[in-house]
Amino acid sequence: MSDALLFTPIQVGKTRLNNRIVMAPMTRSRAGAGDAATTLNATYYAQRASAGLIVSEASQISQQGQGYAWTPGIYSEAQVSGWKTVVDAVHAQGGHMALQLWHVGRISHPLLQPGGADPVAPSAIQAKGQCFVIQPDGTPANVPTALPRALALNELPGIVADYANAAHNAVKAGFDFVEVHAANGYLLNQFLSPNSNQRTDAYGGSLENRARFLLEVVDAVVAAIGADKVGVRLSPQGVFNDIDDPESTAMALYLAKAFTQRNLAFLHIAEPDWAGGQPLSQEFRLQLREAFVGTLITCGGYNATTAEALLGANLADMVAFGRPFIANPDLVRRLRENAPLNEPDPNTFYGGAEAGYTDYPALA
Ligand code: PHB
Repeated sequence: MSDALLFTPIQVGKTRLNNRIVMAPMTRSRAGAGDAATTLNATYYAQRASAGLIVSEASQISQQGQGYAWTPGIYSEAQVSGWKTVVDAVHAQGGHMALQLWHVGRISHPLLQPGGADPVAPSAIQAKGQCFVIQPDGTPANVPTALPRALALNELPGIVADYANAAHNAVKAGFDFVEVHAANGYLLNQFLSPNSNQRTDAYGGSLENRARFLLEVVDAVVAAIGADKVGVRLSPQGVFNDIDDPESTAMALYLAKAFTQRNLAFLHIAEPDWAGGQPLSQEFRLQLREAFVGTLITCGGYNATTAEALLGANLADMVAFGRPFIANPDLVRRLRENAPLNEPDPNTFYGGAEAGYTDYPALA
């Protein structure tokens, strides 16, 4: 596949990426003290720096935005310096990296919240889903998400400011981009979807109202660091974390146009794949392509052949790979050389240390 489109460079914003292969964001739950990224995390990402772009695992913008133990934050000084170690290591290998900005909303539990508070959401509707906590006796456990409290109108600007501050911190740490995580049933997706957003103010009801909070976040992030460093991730047709949105493709097209108006660097689509949902239609792919003028990334169970076909059909500019990157630090080379892939071990996806993280072998 050495002459394939996948291995050609691409300009995104002010940054030239070496190829069109993206490492997808994946929670690995191996942050250190104070939820700061560590030198082990730096080793893991640097091993994978031949990706054209790495999108980091989701990183909470505040403690309120956390829904799983051991995920890295981007709101304290120690967290900025932890992430700086990671980005420096990726840049030293010639790679580029985006930080994914995360607020989980209702996918959380008082055990993770400041002062043991209830998690927050657009509306006080509990999600069918799980989060991961350290119990009072010190043992970790998957537990059902808690009943959230509805955010008051006057709390929304504070969360918007947390996103802007997190974006500012990401650039301070050296990231080339941020990716605003509006997919997979977390806070921003909860605002988009009518089953989790039953507000009666300007942030609920019509499609335009449900989009408002995300667009305010995007505008604040753009004001903080510039549109050429900003991307957004959406999951149209996605059902993960109890999302049920009959208008999700119309919403994605509406947002794609709004992102075009704002000159965002990229739009990253998480296709229904590991998390369930109806596949995207060809018609929707074409509409999305027309609606968004920046770099379009898509993610969801691709291999070299299907990814190349998508680029060849001009339905995307870059293709993201998740699990194959867990087990293959040199995935780009293996795809180029049609080499066999190592299989990822799901038992070591979350938590732990080097095993199943930095010890997957590269080709000789
Ligand atoms: C997870 O930690 O399970 C997780 C995080 C972010 C996602 C999806 C899943 O977008």
